[in-house]
Amino acid sequence: MKTLKDYFRKEFFRYVAIVTLLIVVDFAQVYLPQFTKSAIDSISVKNTTNLFKYSIYILVLSFGIVSLRFLYQSLLRKAVLSFDYELKNKIFESFVFFKRKTLEKFEIGDLMSRVTNDTQAVRMFLIMGFLAIIDVFVLGLTTFIFMMRMNLKLTLAVSVPLLFLFPLALNFGTKIHRIYKRINMIFADMSVRVRELVNGIRVIKAFVKEQYFTKLFHNVNQEYLKENMQLVKLDGFFDPIVNFMINAANLVLIFYGGLLYIKGVVGMGTIAAFFQYIETLTWPMMAVGFSIALYQRATASLSRIEEVLNQPKEKSGRLITDIERIHIKDLHFSFDDNVEVLKGISLNISKGEVIGITGAPGSGKTALIHLLLKIVDAKKGSIFYDGIDINSISFESIKRIFSYVPQEGFLFSDTIYNNIKIGNPDATREEIENVAKVACIYDDIMSFKDGFNTVVGEQGITLSGGERQRIAIARALLTKRPYLILDDALASVDFKTESNIIKNLEEYFIKNGLTVIMISERLSSLLIANRIFVLVDGKIIEEGTFNELISKEGYFYHLYRKQLLEANL
Ligand SMILES: Nc1ncnc2c1ncn2[C@@H]1O[C@H](COP(=O)(O)OP(=O)(O)O)[C@@H](O)[C@H]1O
Ligand SMILES: [Mg+2]
Repeated sequence: MKTLKDYFRKEFFRYVAIVTLLIVVDFAQVYLPQFTKSAIDSISVKNTTNLFKYSIYILVLSFGIVSLRFLYQSLLRKAVLSFDYELKNKIFESFVFFKRKTLEKFEIGDLMSRVTNDTQAVRMFLIMGFLAIIDVFVLGLTTFIFMMRMNLKLTLAVSVPLLFLFPLALNFGTKIHRIYKRINMIFADMSVRVRELVNGIRVIKAFVKEQYFTKLFHNVNQEYLKENMQLVKLDGFFDPIVNFMINAANLVLIFYGGLLYIKGVVGMGTIAAFFQYIETLTWPMMAVGFSIALYQRATASLSRIEEVLNQPKEKSGRLITDIERIHIKDLHFSFDDNVEVLKGISLNISKGEVIGITGAPGSGKTALIHLLLKIVDAKKGSIFYDGIDINSISFESIKRIFSYVPQEGFLFSDTIYNNIKIGNPDATREEIENVAKVACIYDDIMSFKDGFNTVVGEQGITLSGGERQRIAIARALLTKRPYLILDDALASVDFKTESNIIKNLEEYFIKNGLTVIMISERLSSLLIANRIFVLVDGKIIEEGTFNELISKEGYFYHLYRKQLLEANL
């Protein structure tokens, strides 16, 4: 609820204005039937002047009510929509700054629904529920007071059928809420199915699972239909019952009010005014029920939103802008506290070195990099940057010092040019073309019809794994940060291109004085490394220069022989 409190505090004056307007409108609304009464009574006594006068009053007041309602509606909607906009941004920002572990904890559909459905629930409450509460009090109470002043017994009599509207609306509101919640969940399921189909179409075709997949979708769709039918049924019930209750109140008014008129207790004007009051009262009666339902839904949604907003943030720490020496000391790591992925790694890296790390898939290479980049937390006392424990260094420092090419070579749905430029928004076209040349992707880009303006990803062309990796390398080079980490960044590049890139990179590293950590399962990539570490099952089993490791005739040597043979096949 803190989010909501902050919001009301910030928008305090706007809400004071809105509420004041609403109260004024409500009073005008309640006063309107009084003029009707006077007008009708003028008809009874055939007083044309008064009839004309009161008709003018009614006209002016009605016009005033419409204008003011319009004004406060637009004020309120503006306030709520800007809140909604900020809330959505805030939620997304929390996703972005989630630790990787936190992000993996949530399903995509769940996160989506927090941005869309939950913010909608809050928005609906703010627009409808919040106003309804004020309406109920001001409109409902004053209407009752005016009615009772005219005739107490008649007021009580017509209220009886109207009182049923409250539980009716509450019940309806709660049921609708439950159905919508289920519909949203089913909808998320549907999106998952469609995404699965898009991502897995090859597998689905290969295993001839089209029927099976279609069946899965049909099932979800059936659920969707069922819930929507429920909704229609509920809707179909509600309106007629509300109408029935209003008609019942009108009937009581005609019958009992008629009796009172015959007895000479009330005039025709009172009966006419009561018709209008019954109409006015319908809304507050239902509004109480709706607001309670909306409130319940909004608070549930708000707590889901706040759960996201309150996820632990990256702690701030010391800002450093460069590192002379990385010291890794007996580093142990496990993802979920049972299987150790790293089992006591110790190594030092000095500025300017090109370090190679190799090892079989699953040996813990990527895990080591994630620890160095603070993507996952290292145990205290195991990683030091210039003697400072990594845990007391800010995430901002990491962003300034390291550029990183992840294994997948992730690209955004944007042009190739922009995808590279993300590495350094101030870069010139020349610099961008230059890093593309170093990464041996320039010629490929120029061979596309739109060159650097070629759009990649969902809205554009699909690049091969190797092309994606080379663009990701170009992007990382453009950042000009002192440390570069390549995580198997050449794995999908063919042998010939690989050796060209390696040559270019070596030159580029020396020219720019970069410190490089290069991970590669393919040993030929590591020819330019000053020192190489061989990781097996979370432990370093060999280290040395390329030639030293070859002459040792150990793990590295045998792996190299095997890869040479494979390359020559
Ligand atoms: N998020 C994760 N949760 C649990 N285990 C993981 C996770 N990511 C990787 N692992 C496991 O950690 C081990 C090391 O993975 P990784 O560092 O990616 O290996 P490499 O990069 O050397 O191929 C593997 O056994 C892998 O299955
Ligand atoms: Mg890896």
